[in-house]
Amino acid sequence: MSASAPGHAALRDLCARGVLLAASRDPDAKVTFLLTAPTTQSPWAGLVCKIPTTQPALAAVRREARALVDLRRMPLGRLTSTIPRYVSSGPAPGVPGAGGQQELEMLVSTQLPGRPMSQGYHQWRHTSRRGAVVADFDLALGWLESLWTETCTAPESLTWAAEVAEELSRRWDGSPLLGAALARLRTADSTMGAETCPRATVHGDFWFGNVLVEGGAVSGVVDWEASEARGWPLRDAARFVLSYSLYLDRHTSRGRTVPGHPGLRRGDNGAAVTYGLLGDGWYSRLVRARLAHGLRRLGLPAHLWYDVALTGIAEVAAKANDDDFGRDHLRLLVTLPHHPPKPGRRVR
Ligand SMILES: Nc1ncnc2c1ncn2[C@@H]1O[C@H](COP(=O)(O)OP(=O)(O)O)[C@@H](O)[C@H]1O
Ligand SMILES: [Mg+2]
Repeated sequence: MSASAPGHAALRDLCARGVLLAASRDPDAKVTFLLTAPTTQSPWAGLVCKIPTTQPALAAVRREARALVDLRRMPLGRLTSTIPRYVSSGPAPGVPGAGGQQELEMLVSTQLPGRPMSQGYHQWRHTSRRGAVVADFDLALGWLESLWTETCTAPESLTWAAEVAEELSRRWDGSPLLGAALARLRTADSTMGAETCPRATVHGDFWFGNVLVEGGAVSGVVDWEASEARGWPLRDAARFVLSYSLYLDRHTSRGRTVPGHPGLRRGDNGAAVTYGLLGDGWYSRLVRARLAHGLRRLGLPAHLWYDVALTGIAEVAAKANDDDFGRDHLRLLVTLPHHPPKPGRRVR
């Protein structure tokens, strides 16, 4: 904790007034407090405390602290106001570390306005309506393209699929699904690997729950713990589109058709991603068009959209904190064809 930060007793008091956003039970679960202290004199007003509850979460929160400091040093233009500012990090009061011995650290950063895009997403029939979905894609992917504009470097050989293949092999060594998954990554690498692509700042977990929206604009992008200063920008585009697809059927009973998506029935985990990539409806056309658009913006051929999607799915399987989530993506990957079935479906 920095010298100017309030004492632990003050924090304990203010946490009682803040909004607690409990995290999942992931191995790297954190607890996030949005401190809404009512007194303007309070040094905690308008801040966010992220408190790790396990050792892996501690490492993640430390990474995020470093990333926020590094991001602040970059000339990001108008995007600067959409990224939390690092305030301090230090022992989290009353939160025992692993083994109950030592206190864990917490990260304090500035609170950004807006509400997570995930709130709108889960509202009644939001994702059934093309206009609402297009607006979400425009906002998130528009923000991402601004990040690319500010941070892109000279193109380099695009080794993303080969890198993911290595990671996947390490994570799923011994899995009966690994061979088929790697075969798909080899297919993706055979086309993508021949291209060059700029590197850029990568958020690393660019799903719609980490994008805050207010007044029809992106007001914040939070949760920078998996970010990379010079990564493959396609990673964030793929992650957004795939995660947006994944939950489309979440509010529909098993076996029933998802409202607004006549070609999609609630099925196994990942069914909606398959639909997003290979379906015939407006949503699938949107997914393909937006992946293709991102590729063009990076100077790459639009027909790589499917290879980007396969590699993005493999990357989730390789990096997921939660084993079940990772395994679901591995299973999904091996059910997908190496190429989209009809050449006519390819975006040019
Ligand atoms: N700087 C911030 N400003 C406003 N809300 C935030 C901020 N940081 C986090 N949040 C809210 O807290 C939630 C959880 O924080 P996040 O950093 O995404 O934690 P986790 O790593 O557990 O996903 C976010 O989805 C967002 O709603
Ligand atoms: Mg998050």
